[in-house]
Order: sequence, then C-alpha cells, then structure tokens
Amino acid sequence: MNNQIVLGLLSEAGGVGKTTIAVNLAYEWSCRDRSAVILDLDSNHSLEDFVGLGDDCEADETIVKVFSKDFQGDWPLQTPPEFPEKFQVCQGHSLLNEIEQNLVSKKRREYILCKLLKDYPLSSELVILDCNAGWDLISYNVLAASTHLLIPLDMGVKVKTAARLIETILLTASELELDPMPEIIGLIPNRYNKGASVHEEFLKQLPEVAESVGIKLYPAIRTWQYLNNSAVFGLPLKRMRAADPLVKIFSAIANDLEKVQDAQT
Ligand SMILES: Nc1ncnc2c1ncn2[C@@H]1O[C@H](COP(=O)(O)OP(=O)(O)OP(=O)(O)O)[C@@H](O)[C@H]1O
Ligand SMILES: [Mg+2]
Repeated sequence: MNNQIVLGLLSEAGGVGKTTIAVNLAYEWSCRDRSAVILDLDSNHSLEDFVGLGDDCEADETIVKVFSKDFQGDWPLQTPPEFPEKFQVCQGHSLLNEIEQNLVSKKRREYILCKLLKDYPLSSELVILDCNAGWDLISYNVLAASTHLLIPLDMGVKVKTAARLIETILLTASELELDPMPEIIGLIPNRYNKGASVHEEFLKQLPEVAESVGIKLYPAIRTWQYLNNSAVFGLPLKRMRAADPLVKIFSAIANDLEKVQDAQT
C-alpha cells in the first residue's frame, strides 16, 4: 500500500504514554472506518492490558513469530473483543529481549523490521510501532521502519532534555541514512499537572524548542484519572467517555494523519 503510514512512537523515558497514545489514536482512526494495527515491540507487552487481551498468548501468536526465521508474512494479528474490526494488534512478548540480543549479530540489524514490512506488507492504512523507552536495537528498528514519528514528552524534566531527545532522533535517523527521513508529526507533552511549577515552566519553554526544529506541538495531555482508568479497563477513553475533552487531542492527531494520507493518495 503506497499511502500507508508507519507511525513510530519514541520516547526517552518509560511511562510517558506511548502505549496510551497508540491505543487511543488507533481507536480514533478505526472509528473513522480506516484500518489500524499496533505492533507491540515492547518486551513488557503491556499493550495486551490496554486492549483487554489476556496474557496467555503463545509466543508464536505474537511479534516473536514475525522475527522468527520461518516467518513468511502470516502476521499474528488480533482484533480485541471490544474493538472495531479495523483495529488490530500484534501482541508483544518477553522474548523480545532475547530477539534483540540475537539481532546484534545480524547484518543490517537496524533495518530488519523495515525489511519485514516491505517484504510482507500489512494491509492496514496506519501501522503504529510501540516500543521500549530509550535507545536499543528495537528502537533503532522502529526508527528505520517509520514513515512518520510521534514523540510523547515527559514533563517532569527540563525542556532541554526534550530538545536533546529530538536532536538524538534526528541525528540517529541521519546516521542510519534513512531516505526519506521519517517526518515528525508532532510532540505531545503528557501527564500535565496544571499549576505544577516544573510543568508550567516546561510548557512555557517548549513552543520555542518546537518552533526551532519546525515540529508541531500538540496540546498537553493532562494527568487524568479517566485516561488511566480506561487503560485499566482495557478500553480506549473515547469508548468509555465519548465527550471527554482529552478525546479531542487524539482526534486532532488523527485529523493530521488523515491529511498526510490523503495527500499521499
Ligand atoms: N495523561 C495520563 N493521565 C493519567 N495516567 C496516564 C496518562 N498517560 C499515561 N498514563 C498511565 O501511565 C502509565 C504509563 O503509560 P503508558 O504505558 O502509556 O506509557 P509508555 O510510554 O507506553 O510506558 P513504557 O515505556 O513502560 O512502555 C499507564 O498506567 C497509563 O495508564
Ligand atoms: Mg508502553
């Protein structure tokens, strides 16, 4: 599919909201009758909880199968019971740690996922890559496989940490000689506590950083118990609280992705 978007979610720190954003965005997308699949490339395989699936999946029904030498394109995808048909996931697995170790000895080890997606294309219009925080071989693979990136930001740090993360991503993409370079759709500050001085300072300085690198800044996602509750229930926020103000943020990102995709058609 030539207008497919492969959207990588990258962050420096853990718990910044990659999986939360992946699920809520893919749900919003599938509500628009567009197809989305989330590949869980995280060894903590937390995605299964966010979509209400059990943890009793055999390894060869997960992403482990995709990295096995016998893989021939039969992606192990599932639609969780409470989700629309056009919402699919490929579950993660703790064996991803071992897979990553094995990748080290492979030639072109940063491009394995990219090649898998080229050789065995997924039919979904949107493919979301959800991985570990920080930089390891899996995240390099995510970067190399992505056509677009979305960067959730931890607000409990100085804004220069966020600036460094963006710089690292751009530098790494250039070192990997990605052609074309993935386009950064936007930055999303998450877990915003209104009135917290560190957060207010962060939000005050962030627009300048975003502007200096020409990247869109989405409104900050508040620390919001309903968002956390929805994850605990294994459902997207929109499904539990359609009128929740935070739903609009996921909708705004989906609007931008629709524009990108429609322009590619
Ligand atoms: N804005 C928010 N308000 C309240 N809880 C949130 C918010 N964003 C995320 N959470 C909760 O914080 C936890 C971490 O979020 P999430 O799992 O999405 O982060 P992550 O970046 O995927 O983490 P990891 O790097 O461990 O995979 C989850 O329990 C999630 O429900
Ligand atoms: Mg996660």
